[in-house]
Amino acid sequence: MGVYQLFDHEDFGDIAFQQVVKAVNDNHRPNPTIIFPTGGTPEPLYTRIAELRSFFPMFDYINLDQYYGIEYDDPRSYPFEIEQKLLKALKLKPDLQLVFNATAQANHECHRIENAIRHAGGIDIAVIGIGPNGHIAFNEPKTDFNTRAHLVDLTPETIAANQKYCAQFGGVPPQALTLGLGTIMEAKKIILLTNKPEITLRALHGSVTTDVPASVLQRHPNLTVVATPQVGAKLRLAA
Ligand code: GLP
Repeated sequence: MGVYQLFDHEDFGDIAFQQVVKAVNDNHRPNPTIIFPTGGTPEPLYTRIAELRSFFPMFDYINLDQYYGIEYDDPRSYPFEIEQKLLKALKLKPDLQLVFNATAQANHECHRIENAIRHAGGIDIAVIGIGPNGHIAFNEPKTDFNTRAHLVDLTPETIAANQKYCAQFGGVPPQALTLGLGTIMEAKKIILLTNKPEITLRALHGSVTTDVPASVLQRHPNLTVVATPQVGAKLRLAA
């Protein structure tokens, strides 16, 4: 089992905010590169950032994943969601965003993103969530731990879990572009946001296996877990 720092509290948005700001301050680059995730879990963080926007440091945004074949401003689009919920509130300029073009040729696009990340000096802080089947971004079970950005066929389980966000807009697209586990693990700092007790326990205290992609996080030297109290209680019992 790897070592991680755990922060859990009723006010999930506030502890997440504190940990992200701390990570930015601990990082010595003036404009660190940060990945922000989508989904329901990080919403309290984005609300808090919008409330305290004048205290939030500048950063360069890197997109974590995106459904394949949709336009940037599709209501299901992840970078569009981040723009609406986070970047607009912070008035971040578009030239500071590195985003998957989901209508481009997939291999070409994945190479472009990997090169651009390298050119930007790598990922300083990866804020990520976890899917019900243990996926990180869209790295589904059985994904090799060394993968770089790639095109994914989403599993039926992930498609079902994400219908709540997509059903009214034509459903969950069957494929997605995602940063790879290898790409994400190279981030200097990882902050996992979680409200899912069972799968988080398996990921952080079970065996390191591609059956649970998030279990690779046990190998990261600088992992912070921001959790709901329910998750925190479970993790503490296992520690
Ligand atoms: C999607 C995203 C993941 C995210 C996960 C959890 O599948 N690709 O990056 O972590 O959903 O979402 P939620 O926070 O809504 O449970």
